Amino acid sequence: MKTQDNEPTEQHKSAWGHIISGLWRSPLGVLGVAITTISITLMIIGLIADLSGAALFENPYAGAATYLVLPGGMLFGLVLIPIAAYFRRRQWLQFGLDMEHLKLNLSDKKHRSVLIGILVLTVINVTILTVVGYEGYHFTDSPYFCGMVCHQVMEPEYTAYKRSAHSRIPCVDCHIGPGAQWFVRAKLSGLRQVAAVVTDSYSRPIPAPVHELRPARDTCEQCHWPEKFHGKKMKTFTHFSNDNQEEAQIQEIALHIGGHNPETDRFEGIHWHVSEDVEVSYLAVDRERTKIAKVRVKRPDGTEDEFVKNDIEAEEGEEHEWRVMDCIDCHNRPTHIYDMPEEVVDFGLVSKKINGEIPGIREDSLNVLTKEYLSREEAKENMVRDLTELLRQRDPNLPARFGDDIKRAGEYLVEAYLGNVWPETKVFWGTYKEHLGHQWADDGYGCWRCHDEEHENEDGETITQDCALCHDEPE
Ligand code: HEC
Ligand code: HEC
Ligand code: HEC
Ligand code: HEC
Ligand code: HEC
Repeated sequence: MKTQDNEPTEQHKSAWGHIISGLWRSPLGVLGVAITTISITLMIIGLIADLSGAALFENPYAGAATYLVLPGGMLFGLVLIPIAAYFRRRQWLQFGLDMEHLKLNLSDKKHRSVLIGILVLTVINVTILTVVGYEGYHFTDSPYFCGMVCHQVMEPEYTAYKRSAHSRIPCVDCHIGPGAQWFVRAKLSGLRQVAAVVTDSYSRPIPAPVHELRPARDTCEQCHWPEKFHGKKMKTFTHFSNDNQEEAQIQEIALHIGGHNPETDRFEGIHWHVSEDVEVSYLAVDRERTKIAKVRVKRPDGTEDEFVKNDIEAEEGEEHEWRVMDCIDCHNRPTHIYDMPEEVVDFGLVSKKINGEIPGIREDSLNVLTKEYLSREEAKENMVRDLTELLRQRDPNLPARFGDDIKRAGEYLVEAYLGNVWPETKVFWGTYKEHLGHQWADDGYGCWRCHDEEHENEDGETITQDCALCHDEPE
């Protein structure tokens, strides 16, 4: 049975022509064409804006839209079109259209031009997608993407990074480094992370250490290498105490940075651990790598040694793996560096942002900073008032006498708090502790994990804690 399609104009068209023009009558087809057209147009605008360095691209969401959402939209629209055509075709078949008409006939001029049209459009689409894909790949490697698109999740890391010595270095230089293998691994783990964010199943706080981190020697040594370090480095530590808020105690130490000594041609000092022909490895029994049961060392003269601490017990269900020591075992916070409340308050006192003449302000500043606010907003709103209130309890006259100074101190504390604490992602003071030095020794962090005089070799020798090994004797 044939359809009774009597309209002369319609009959002129081939069956393919019907299907294609019929697309316009199927809602799905119109939707597909519309989505594709809008996506391509916006994408091209976004691409031009980005390549010409327009200020719009200061906004990372513009990048996310151009390089991730719109290409997705374009592909989705493109897929809808053949689906719509397929349904249309079925409709025609249902009406009993002759199958012959549906065959592609290349000697038919109309068929040829439709085919050429489709090919041209495909080439254009593929070209656009390639350019967008290339730019999009750079975009997903940019600190913006890492820090801002996963906005809430990595805000602490991004904030700390921005104020560090590495703030001009892209996240990927440390987190991925050169080479295709790690690139692929990073993108795969990135996909998992995006999935964790979308399903809201990521850990809060993000756990440290990062166990899949690429060995630091592949990344850090792109820019720093042990041969380059030498000599000593002076470092000044300034402390106050609650009893003495006005006079700083200054501790100067000369750190034996070490590295290659050009005179003796030997490696020495702190960077000896990562120098040529030296390998220090260790077996930790917890995920934080704070409980070290055994330490092995290969020295440049070829001798080897193993130091064991007997009273360390493996925690149930924890993995035990030997790890070769690298930069991160000391520089675990090279860029995501958080302050401690004492540091913040003492810096405030030394820089006069906190007026040390106000009795009790050091102690009360510490109390306010470490108070458990439920959110950053709450801290922002209440901190100045809480500080004033604590001081009033000490002496009702203080707020009147030092009103402006107290307000200034409070505002400084708010700023410090906002740079270090995120109750929403469970990042508090001291969540991320540092290995550099021994200020966290009681929690198992720092040099004294090994340099504790308790790891012994067969001859009963230990890894020394002699103060003069690492820095000149402090006074
Ligand atoms: C100078 C190198 C460097 C740069 C640049 C860098 N990171 Fe890191 N990052 C590290 C190291 C090293 C660790 C691992 C610390 C550990 O294992 O204890 C880390 C850890 C992290 C963690 C896990 C949480 C933590 O604090 O340990 C996150 C999340 C993170 N980085 C995100 C970023 C983002 C986002 C950027 C860019 C905005 C960035 N990083 C830039 C070196 C870097
Ligand atoms: C792309 C190059 C680059 C990479 C990769 C890199 N750094 Fe740096 N690093 C720098 C620059 C630049 C500085 C700043 C020097 C300055 O301020 O004088 C710096 C400074 C430092 C400092 C001194 C910090 C300070 O506060 O003065 C340390 C420590 C450091 N880097 C360790 C690391 C570690 C550990 C890694 C690997 C996780 C690493 N860097 C990766 C370029 C790099
Ligand atoms: C045994 C621990 C340890 C290891 C391992 C280690 N460092 Fe250091 N590094 C230190 C200490 C301690 C300092 C001085 C810290 C300070 O300035 O506060 C330092 C300082 C530095 C500095 C600053 C030097 C300067 O003159 O200011 C850089 C850069 C650096 N390290 C990079 C690296 C790199 C890259 C690696 C890995 C190849 C590495 N370190 C391995 C402990 C270590
Ligand atoms: C994983 C264990 C471990 C950690 C952590 C560690 N060390 Fe060591 N360190 C060793 C071992 C092992 C030796 C060599 C002992 C020996 O040869 O008898 C050593 C030797 C040294 C030496 C002497 C190097 C020379 O010239 O021969 C210095 C200096 C040193 N460490 C400083 C540090 C500092 C500073 C830190 C912390 C930032 C630190 N170490 C963290 C294991 C460690
Ligand atoms: C294994 C190496 C090592 C040994 C041993 C060591 N220190 Fe340190 N110490 C460090 C490092 C590294 C720093 C610098 C930390 C930093 O840059 O923040 C430091 C910093 C210090 C500071 C300044 C920190 C501050 O907040 O005032 C003092 C004081 C100090 N050490 C005292 C000692 C004393 C006392 C001994 C001997 C019992 C000793 N250290 C043994 C590595 C060591």
